[in-house]
Amino acid sequence: MKIDGRTFVVSGGASGLGRACVLDICKSGGNAAILDMNEELGNALVKQLGASARFFVCDVADTNSIAAAVKSTVDWVCQTGKPFGGIIPAAGVGRPGLILDRNSRPLSLESLDFVVNINLRGTVDLVRQVLPHLASTAPDGLDGERGVIVMVASAAAFEGQMGQVAYAASKGAVASMTLPMARDLSRFGIRVVTIAPSMFDSAMTAAMSDKVKTSLKKAMEFPARAGKPEEFSSLVKQAIENVMLNGVVIRLDGATRMPSKL
Ligand SMILES: NC(=O)c1ccc[n+]([C@@H]2O[C@H](COP(=O)([O-])OP(=O)(O)OC[C@H]3O[C@@H](n4cnc5c(N)ncnc54)[C@H](O)[C@@H]3O)[C@@H](O)[C@H]2O)c1
Repeated sequence: MKIDGRTFVVSGGASGLGRACVLDICKSGGNAAILDMNEELGNALVKQLGASARFFVCDVADTNSIAAAVKSTVDWVCQTGKPFGGIIPAAGVGRPGLILDRNSRPLSLESLDFVVNINLRGTVDLVRQVLPHLASTAPDGLDGERGVIVMVASAAAFEGQMGQVAYAASKGAVASMTLPMARDLSRFGIRVVTIAPSMFDSAMTAAMSDKVKTSLKKAMEFPARAGKPEEFSSLVKQAIENVMLNGVVIRLDGATRMPSKL
């Protein structure tokens, strides 16, 4: 799938890993529809990128909000004539919570719902609402490709740490969906790739305490540092461009394996 001349929908595109994807897509001649709750950051990014990016305010936990943002994106695609090329559902949140805390209080369902609604339901809902448009694009090249979905899991899908029951459940589900989604979409010439990053520099990790960051570094092999957003987006670019990448979850972690405790 060529990025040039195509439109990609990036949720969480106003910050961190999603933002890096938006920058790479626009640099490669594509258009990026940024769907995010953060209007300030989203509008600032569009100002920086000009005509190749548009910001549509969107809460991926709210299906009507996704519908409105997808409709606006479809209108934009009609104006530009740059057909859909893919979906990158990168909006995500972490809210730590033990399944049973030291005072014997169980994890609240509100906390579980908050994380699962954004990370899992929000991913599926965005993908399902954009898919009819992606599937109706003209098939491209010898393989008749129509588009790519690049989902974002986490190392927590495999080695969730203490306090990550909700987050690990949401990311493990995203990883598990990859193959069945690729199988469902093969008849349309649409591929599905999931990336599972370890610790990357972003607003999400900036909120971690120095103690947590130092302790996470001890679990790193090489390089012993957090990944950079552009290292993530460079793999997303490869996932878009390499037609043989399909139905796979790729760890992007410098051989880090998360320990039980920090
Ligand atoms: N940074 C890491 O170390 C790391 C590691 C593994 C996985 N991830 C995953 O990568 C993805 C991107 O995270 P990031 O690190 O760039 O964080 P980030 O906080 O920098 O960016 C997340 C973006 O998602 C947006 N967002 C949050 N809730 C939303 C909602 N309900 N609707 C729409 N947008 C919403 C935020 O406004 C923000 O712009 C997430 O899915 C995260 O779980 C990050």
